[in-house]
Amino acid sequence: LKLGVMASGSGSNFEAIARSIDEGELNAKIELLIYNNPEATVKNRAQKYQIPSLLLNHRDFSNRKALDRAIVEEFKARDVEWVIMAGWMRIVTEELLKAFPQRVINIHPSLLPSFKGINAIEQALEAQVKITGCTVHLVDLEVDSGPILVQAAVPILPNDTPETLHQRIQIQEHRIITQGIAIASALQGS
Ligand code: GRF
Repeated sequence: LKLGVMASGSGSNFEAIARSIDEGELNAKIELLIYNNPEATVKNRAQKYQIPSLLLNHRDFSNRKALDRAIVEEFKARDVEWVIMAGWMRIVTEELLKAFPQRVINIHPSLLPSFKGINAIEQALEAQVKITGCTVHLVDLEVDSGPILVQAAVPILPNDTPETLHQRIQIQEHRIITQGIAIASALQGS
């Protein structure tokens, strides 16, 4: 599987994918990492795994569609088959989804359809639910919706802060992100 990964932040999910490829668990190759924030430390992780990376700063584009067109061009130039949003903090448009129909995967830190959007972890704490988690799903035009591929549950503990809860959710994210890619490709037959 030829993967294109999009990330905005620390990139621990990006690294989980890279590691599981290196360890032979996931039969895939990350052809390109695109990141949108010059400060994103995900670029150091790409260097560590000798994966090509490219900064496409959203501030250099006039609108979301223009950014997505540039992303599509870069991924298509490398024959990318699957696009993975691994902590991509921008809303994507039909420019991306039409170029990769049913082939864009996102990870979200809640049990969807609960707690969509940003601050999913704070929303779960605020709602005082006892169990939250994370979801890997195919992306459609609505934010944090689309067919669910895999989920993991994470209990909320009495003294949890957004940080402690996020840490435990991330352990599960790193496990299910690669599972989600494998499941999606099996469903599509490639
Ligand atoms: C993840 O928790 C993901 O669910 C959220 O952004 C975070 C990215 O973390 N949308 P990382 O950059 O992969 O460490």
